Amino acid sequence: MPTIIFHSPDGSSHKVDARVGASAMETAVKVGVPGIVAECGGALSCATCHVFVDSAWIAATGIADEFEDEMLDDAETPRTPTSRLSCQIRVTDDLDGLELTIAPEQ
Ligand code: FES
Repeated sequence: MPTIIFHSPDGSSHKVDARVGASAMETAVKVGVPGIVAECGGALSCATCHVFVDSAWIAATGIADEFEDEMLDDAETPRTPTSRLSCQIRVTDDLDGLELTIAPEQ
């Protein structure tokens, strides 16, 4: 089972077992990782699941598609080159050890 490490805005870190096929957002929300609001529940319409992907993992997670990219432009915390919406990151075995930093404002 892959694990994902979430770094929260409050400075805490959470290593969470993730189910293959779930989204990174669902993985965090399920165990109560602080900082991800996920207002739309993963429907790609709120940008309140904004995370920064550790630069070592960008190739594995891939980049935002056009629609996600537009949503990131409206995120509360200004986007960075490694910004993604965590509801659009699908967990695979290849993402074991993935590190995500949750944006401070959602
Ligand atoms: S949960 Fe709303 S865009 Fe990701």
